[in-house]
Amino acid sequence: MSYFNKLGLKEEPFSTSPDPNFFYQSREHGSALRRLEIAIRLKRGMSLILGDVGVGKTTLSRILMQSFRNENRFAFHMILNPNYKSEFQFLSSLAKRFGIDGDLRSSMDCQDAIERYLFREGVDEEKTVVLLIDEGQKLSLPFLEVLRTLLNYETNKYKLLQLIIMAQLELLPKIKHVRNFTDRISLKYIINPLGQEDTKKLILFRLRQAGLDNFRDVFTDDAMDEIYKYSLGYPRRIALLCHDTLENLIIEGKKIVDKELVLKTIERNE
Ligand SMILES: Nc1ncnc2c1ncn2[C@@H]1O[C@H](COP(=O)(O)OP(=O)(O)OP(=O)(O)O)[C@@H](O)[C@H]1O
Ligand SMILES: [Mg+2]
Repeated sequence: MSYFNKLGLKEEPFSTSPDPNFFYQSREHGSALRRLEIAIRLKRGMSLILGDVGVGKTTLSRILMQSFRNENRFAFHMILNPNYKSEFQFLSSLAKRFGIDGDLRSSMDCQDAIERYLFREGVDEEKTVVLLIDEGQKLSLPFLEVLRTLLNYETNKYKLLQLIIMAQLELLPKIKHVRNFTDRISLKYIINPLGQEDTKKLILFRLRQAGLDNFRDVFTDDAMDEIYKYSLGYPRRIALLCHDTLENLIIEGKKIVDKELVLKTIERNE
C-alpha cells in the first residue's frame, strides 16, 4: 500500500510530473496563461516565457494546449526538446510535425514547404498554427535563426506562425546574438516563484485534487511556512519536500505534519 492510500488519498498528491490535474493557477501562472492566450488569439507572432528550473513552464505548456483543445481553428504542435544535429534535421522534423510529406532534400526545400503549409493553413483554411517549444534554452544560434525566418511569413494583417518558447533564463543572453530576434518578441513574461500564500494554496489544492476530505488538515500552518522558507516558492521543490514529508509522516505513524517534521525531513535530505 502506498503512502497516499494510508492518508486516505486516491492519488499521489505530490508527484513531480507536469500533470494538468494538479496545476494550481497561482497569480504568476494565471497571468502568464492569460497573456499567452491573448497573444495567440491576436496572432502576435512570438511569445517568450522565461523562468528558473522547476517554476512550472512545462506544466503551463500543457495547460495552455488543453485550454484550446476544443477549438479546431487552432493547430498546436509541441517540441519538448529542441536538440537537433543540424539545421536540416531541425527543419525536416518541423515539416514532419506539421504533417508535410514529400521529398524534402535540403533546408531550402523544407523552408519552402513550411511556408506553403503556413499560407495554406493560415490563409486558405483560416487556422492559427501554434508551435510551442519547451526547453528553449537548448536552442542553439542556427536554430534561432531558422525560427526567425519562419516568423517572417505573414500577411498584411498577421503572422502565420505563432511561436511560443518556454525557456530557462539562460536563453536571454543567447538571443541577443541573433540579429532582429529580440525585436520580434511580442510577449516576454518571466514566471516568478510563488509567494507564501500561493505556496500554501498550492499544497492544499494538490491534496484536495488527490482526494483529501475538505475539512481535514494534513499540514499545520507553521509546517507550510517552513516549506515556503525552504522551497522559496519553487513548485518542484515544494512538491518534492511535501512528498518526502508525507512519507516521513507515515513512517513515524503521525497524523499531521508539523514544523518539526518538515525540518527533520529537510535535515535528512541534506
Ligand atoms: N502551478 C502549479 N501548480 C501545481 N504544481 C505545479 C505548478 N507549476 C509547477 N508545478 C509542479 O512543479 C514541478 C515542476 O514543474 P515543471 O516541470 O512544469 O517546471 P519547469 O519550469 O518546466 O522545470 P524545468 O526548468 O526543469 O523544465 C511539477 O511537479 C509540477 O507539477
Ligand atoms: Mg520543463
